[in-house]
Amino acid sequence: MWSLFLIIATFVVCFAPSFQQFPRRCATREALLSKECCPSWDGDGSACGASSGRGFCQDVQAPTQPDGPQYPFSGVDDREKWPLVFYNRTCQCAGNYMGSNCGDCKFGFYGANCNERRESVRRNVFHLSRAEMSQYISYLNLAKNTMSTDYVVVTGTYEEMENGSNPMFANVSVYDVYVWMHYYVSRDALLGGPGNVWTNVDFAHWAPGFLPWHRLYLLHWENDIRKLTGDMSFVMPYWDWRDAGDCDVCTDELMGARSPGDPDLLSPGSVFSSWKVICSQPGAYNERGVLCDASQEGPLRRNPGNHNRNQVPRLPSSAEVAFTLGLRDYDTGPMDRTANMSFRNTMEGFGDPSTGRGSSTRMGMHAAIHVFMNGTMSSVQGSANDPIFLLHHAYIDSLYEQWLRVNQPSPSEYPDSGAPIGHNGDYNMVPFLPLYKNREFFLSSKELGYEYSSLQDSSEYLLASGVLNPRNVFYMRFIYQKHLFRYECLLIPF
Ligand SMILES: *[C@@H]1O[C@H](CO)[C@@H](O)[C@H](O)[C@H]1NC(C)=O
Ligand SMILES: *[C@@H]1O[C@H](CO)[C@@H](O)[C@H](O)[C@H]1NC(C)=O
Ligand SMILES: *[C@@H]1O[C@H](CO)[C@@H](O)[C@H](O)[C@H]1NC(C)=O
Ligand SMILES: *[C@@H]1O[C@H](CO)[C@@H](O)[C@H](O)[C@H]1NC(C)=O
Ligand SMILES: *[C@@H]1O[C@H](CO)[C@@H](O)[C@H](O)[C@H]1NC(C)=O
Repeated sequence: MWSLFLIIATFVVCFAPSFQQFPRRCATREALLSKECCPSWDGDGSACGASSGRGFCQDVQAPTQPDGPQYPFSGVDDREKWPLVFYNRTCQCAGNYMGSNCGDCKFGFYGANCNERRESVRRNVFHLSRAEMSQYISYLNLAKNTMSTDYVVVTGTYEEMENGSNPMFANVSVYDVYVWMHYYVSRDALLGGPGNVWTNVDFAHWAPGFLPWHRLYLLHWENDIRKLTGDMSFVMPYWDWRDAGDCDVCTDELMGARSPGDPDLLSPGSVFSSWKVICSQPGAYNERGVLCDASQEGPLRRNPGNHNRNQVPRLPSSAEVAFTLGLRDYDTGPMDRTANMSFRNTMEGFGDPSTGRGSSTRMGMHAAIHVFMNGTMSSVQGSANDPIFLLHHAYIDSLYEQWLRVNQPSPSEYPDSGAPIGHNGDYNMVPFLPLYKNREFFLSSKELGYEYSSLQDSSEYLLASGVLNPRNVFYMRFIYQKHLFRYECLLIPF
């Protein structure tokens, strides 16, 4: 009896259909026509697990705050007022529940009732053992080669779908759901007809939502890998590229070495040489005035260091990271690529990492790594095809976390209104379903159940290693909290 219960419980926990864009169960004519995305939870068969109090099917609240002037349209793009073009009712989960049907636990919570708290620690990819590295590569490859059972991706506009009566969705792999999400959120707005697009719009970049959006994206990805592999202890690693002369993760053990036959391609000794990209040709879609159809578009391309050096002289230095972390204001002025002395804009790469001045002609920090890779990583819309994207963004997220811990901003420091479309605090992040607001990810990773090994209490480590005299601990802790990056520099002479 008990074993049967355990088998059922395991099934429910491990295979419950879940949580985002587009939930397969909402990609139907019926769901689109009724505009309701409230799938039932398998645990009790009720919509949103309502009978068990997990959540309720509720009207979506449209964002009310005005957007910035960068996007002068309304009613032309399916991402406006997300997700109202597609759905006006979704599951809103109670307690520690999460997911399109409230079948999952909130980040950092585990167990059948989602009441076990656990912290996972993301580590430097070079600190993984050989076995851990090869396991990470095999998980990535499994995700790339397993069709997603939970999600499908949308391949047409709502209008092309005749307001829902003619659904246009495609099956893709677990990995490619994420490639597609990054494409869809950053794509240009189609204004109707071939070549008629608006390029100065991006629902996850060039504005304050950049850091919260990618934080959510990585958390979801990590969760999906756990579900796919059944390895609930899986935690993604990061790549600390400070002062790296070259792409030191570009080895066959990690992200793939260069092909001896073609400098633009990956070595046959890497599994990634056989990966095929999707959604990587924004120019071609724009010319035709269509969305990416999620079909395969050839191999992954990468040629690290063979980029335009006037745009990116080298990978970012420790001093540039320290300068960026020292900027006090999360975002400033128009909160776009022109923002001066903005932590977000400088971290993203459009603020000069030695002066903080916006509209920089040189790309720094986050953007520098993308340009440096000179291939699939270099176009915003297709960049998530390259698995380096995940290692890179995990490091960017760790720097975001470092800034949050030093500055301890109140939630109201995240802009309420006036940010470019998609980026106000209460805007639902495109294209996630269920709904998450930008401001919900403007808080310490500890609250979301994860930590970075580089940020764990360094003074304890130093005490243990004998570098630090116990009498100085209080002093060091004070510095650690107030000036995290200076503390790191101080360590070097020891
Ligand atoms: C949601 O959309 C449906 C279908 O278009 C419509 O009938 C309903 O009135 C809408 N509900 C709200 C709250 O706008
Ligand atoms: C879709 O809905 C819009 C607005 O309600 C309407 O103008 C248009 O005719 C509809 N298109 C189709 C194909 O039903
Ligand atoms: C996706 O795959 C499922 C299962 O193989 C199939 O039933 C469904 O028709 C496919 N959907 C699309 C849009 O191709
Ligand atoms: C690679 O770099 C060259 C300049 O060295 C540039 O012309 C080309 O556009 C870059 N390719 C990509 C995909 O970024
Ligand atoms: C940024 O600073 C420069 C130099 O002071 C100034 O010309 C520019 O207008 C400022 N931009 C914004 C958006 O404030």
